[in-house]
Amino acid sequence: MTAEIIDGKAFAAGLRERIAEAVPAFVEAAGRKPGLAVVLVGEDPASQVYVGSKGKATVAAGMNSFEHRLPETATQQELIAMVEQLNADDSVDGILVQLPLPEGMDDKAVIAAIDPAKDVDGFHVVNAGKLAVGEDALVPCTPLGCLMLLKDALGDLSGMDAVVVGRSNIVGKPMAQLLLGENCTVTLAHSRTRDLPAVVRRADIVVAAVGRAEMVKGDWLKDGATVIDVGINRLAPTEEGKKGRLVGDVAYEEALGHVKAITPVPGGVGPMTIAVLLRNTLVAAHARAG
Ligand code: GUN
Repeated sequence: MTAEIIDGKAFAAGLRERIAEAVPAFVEAAGRKPGLAVVLVGEDPASQVYVGSKGKATVAAGMNSFEHRLPETATQQELIAMVEQLNADDSVDGILVQLPLPEGMDDKAVIAAIDPAKDVDGFHVVNAGKLAVGEDALVPCTPLGCLMLLKDALGDLSGMDAVVVGRSNIVGKPMAQLLLGENCTVTLAHSRTRDLPAVVRRADIVVAAVGRAEMVKGDWLKDGATVIDVGINRLAPTEEGKKGRLVGDVAYEEALGHVKAITPVPGGVGPMTIAVLLRNTLVAAHARAG
């Protein structure tokens, strides 16, 4: 069987284009651009790169990007005060506080301070609860991007056996809810799951989001399964002075011999996250503008 390589980069580029095409209608109706505020605390190099990319993509889509930086030494109260200021700012439709936060800050308290209507990450308990009971919600970007790729590859997912490996609040849990919403039979597996290979072998759809390099082996996969690999792990360098290779949570080369379709790393799920963030910002803007 020749595996289909799911081109997340191309899908994300198409989604970004469709969003950019939809923005002028909002501007026409609301008399202003949609606005996304991104807050970065501290100097984490990877976070600075992510925040820069988000800002550029936001502007490229025709939206306003507001970047706010706080020093590593900022207090939680200062961060929450900034979030409250953004909640009250009518030109801001989406608020994203870049994670991880510096040591000593409580993610939960900061996320709880975000107006749920502006929570474009979908991390607030109000949005998590709405997703769980099937109400319209702002949904976390990475799992929503995974679902878009799955529906594009497979069409109707009804009745399929889906196994999600990893139970994080950001990916695993909302991914399971989204698949349930598509009428899949969903298993949410994790580090304490007994006989994980046997559980994964039942799946028509596997979403791997554990953060462990190449953990899901090729012979764990049912022939004809579709695999979405959320992991981005850097292997140890094999040559001095060089960076190690980026790999997913699935042993990709092995998997190719079994699967119907699979996302590569990089170029699979990664590019979807920013595209869905822009989509969530436009959705939030429309909802706020009534
Ligand atoms: N850090 C890495 N990914 C994300 C994300 O999707 N949202 C936020 N807020 N922080 C992140």
